[in-house]
Amino acid sequence: MFHLEMVEEGVSGMKITSIEDLKKIKEEAQRSTSLREGNADYRIVVCMGTCGIAAGARQVMSSLLDEISVRGLKNVMVTQAGCIGLCDREPLLSVEKGDEKVFYGDLNPEKARRIITSHIVNGQIIGEWVVHVER
Ligand code: FES
Repeated sequence: MFHLEMVEEGVSGMKITSIEDLKKIKEEAQRSTSLREGNADYRIVVCMGTCGIAAGARQVMSSLLDEISVRGLKNVMVTQAGCIGLCDREPLLSVEKGDEKVFYGDLNPEKARRIITSHIVNGQIIGEWVVHVER
């Protein structure tokens, strides 16, 4: 009992009424740790340099985040980068897994959603939108 009270105060202040609650808290803590430490299977990096933003990178970013949240995906993290020297293909992003980086260009919010469903969920690279690959 003493232990439960410690957890209750220490983690989030939420009222713990069952073992299920404790499990949820533990899972949530593990999930945020894995994202923080970059252990997600996929990392999506959106170019948010000046030309990226001018071309619509913010809308691309928000549609990515929305699709990930609607699908409840836990194996992907999204971050941003500055200019990577492909400004004429903005908006662009890279999908990174292990040592592989696949850069997609000339994006819009709808294409960004397709990248989540095809590349992240089904493991299918959309070849026609790829502007560069690093392995
Ligand atoms: S601003 Fe994104 S590639 Fe240059």
